[in-house]
Amino acid sequence: MEALKGVRILDMSHVQAGPTCSQLLAWMGADVIKFENPAGDATRGQLRDVPNADSLYFTMLNCNKRSITVNMKSAGGKAVFTDMLGRCDIIMENFGPGVLDRFGFTWEKIHEINPKIVMGSIKGFGSSGPYADFKAYENVAQAMGGAMSTTGVPDGPPFVTGAQIGDSGTGLHLAVGLLAALRQAERTGKGQYVEVAMMDGVMNLCRVKFRDHQRLAHGELTEYSVPTYKGMGEVPRAGNDSGGGQLGNAIHCKPHGANDWLYIVVQEAVWAKLAQRIGPEVGMPGLVNDPRLDRIGERRKNQQLMWTLINKFAENYTKRELMEILNPLDVPCGPIMSTQDLATDEHVRGRDMWVELDHPQRGKWWNVGMPIKLSASPALIRRSPTLGEHTEEILREVLGYDEAKIEGLKKAGAFSLPPRKAA
Ligand SMILES: CC(C)(COP(=O)(O)OP(=O)(O)OC[C@H]1O[C@@H](n2cnc3c(N)ncnc32)[C@H](O)[C@@H]1OP(=O)(O)O)[C@@H](O)C(=O)NCCC(=O)NCCS
Repeated sequence: MEALKGVRILDMSHVQAGPTCSQLLAWMGADVIKFENPAGDATRGQLRDVPNADSLYFTMLNCNKRSITVNMKSAGGKAVFTDMLGRCDIIMENFGPGVLDRFGFTWEKIHEINPKIVMGSIKGFGSSGPYADFKAYENVAQAMGGAMSTTGVPDGPPFVTGAQIGDSGTGLHLAVGLLAALRQAERTGKGQYVEVAMMDGVMNLCRVKFRDHQRLAHGELTEYSVPTYKGMGEVPRAGNDSGGGQLGNAIHCKPHGANDWLYIVVQEAVWAKLAQRIGPEVGMPGLVNDPRLDRIGERRKNQQLMWTLINKFAENYTKRELMEILNPLDVPCGPIMSTQDLATDEHVRGRDMWVELDHPQRGKWWNVGMPIKLSASPALIRRSPTLGEHTEEILREVLGYDEAKIEGLKKAGAFSLPPRKAA
């Protein structure tokens, strides 16, 4: 049985942060009802690769959900929403600040309508504090949560990371909060408001950088390959440094293309074996006993020399060949995998992490699979819904409306486009 079977979610979320969360919960078996503006989630039409078809931006984040379109700016739409609240366990949204309040549905009102319902909200900066009124997108959160200032090289600009830690990362945090609140609601009969701010989520994911921030008050960061000093104040960008207690870096390999790199961690315990293997090939047969590198403290101090030697050794090997040399020596390492590498990787396919799906508008396409593997409840991935595909089904099956009621609401504009805002 699916782990979350019987849990129904009224999902008003859009773009990426909220939909990541609800897709995960849907993959765990929740009945996720995507409650959409009649114009649809804006991502349906963004970055389209196939004309007139839901974009991959939308399809990859909205699998296993049902879609209903409801105009929240009409009286009929608000009535449908109120009925839905009575039949759902969770309501979630990631609108800009105040949108739901402007519809007339504050958390207090929602809680009054259904005291057991759990409400999940993602905001850029939360509902309190000087930043509360601002909107946010992924890179705004990366900028403000500490990720950008610590990513890149000291002399270059701050960089964003390709992993969507602001959006998808926040979605993950929300999923944890919702499941905890749901468990509590089951015990107490009382729902609660679960808020995750994107900035907070990014700070949580940058936790080790705040470890280093405080260490700087006591001395330099000896494992960093870039200069640091006591009282420096802010954690510097440190390229591809490992960020942990062990030294690490990306090593360029043959034929030296954009992704011909192997990430290597020179764990303390493996140095001797590594030095014995690479020393003779870089013209230093005695490398293992070299006092500049033989102890961890010295290796940290002289790590540029160590990386130069490893890079020299790597010149003769591809990333896969180098990995084959290092794996038997127990050196933790991994090739920098391109999206193409991953889309064709046997390990990835074997773990159902690259899954082929069909779609009535776009035909065959691929989605990244479910990363959380439940032994008794494996995820079954189904395509995303087309806009409003399940409107009537939900009105009948979930709300128990009859034909006459549905027709009346339709005529009153409950499911059609809201009037455009005056310029
Ligand atoms: C992402 C974001 C910047 C997008 O901003 P936006 O496109 O202006 O969208 P908003 O969420 O502010 O507003 C949604 C609009 O759709 C309208 N809308 C939403 N659902 C509707 C419905 N079912 N019926 C009628 N109107 C609806 C809202 O009323 C609002 O219009 P209004 O401003 O006239 O009230 C903003 O939603 C945001 O900051 N969200 C929180 C942080 C977040 O999740 N960011 C990451 C997204 S991946």
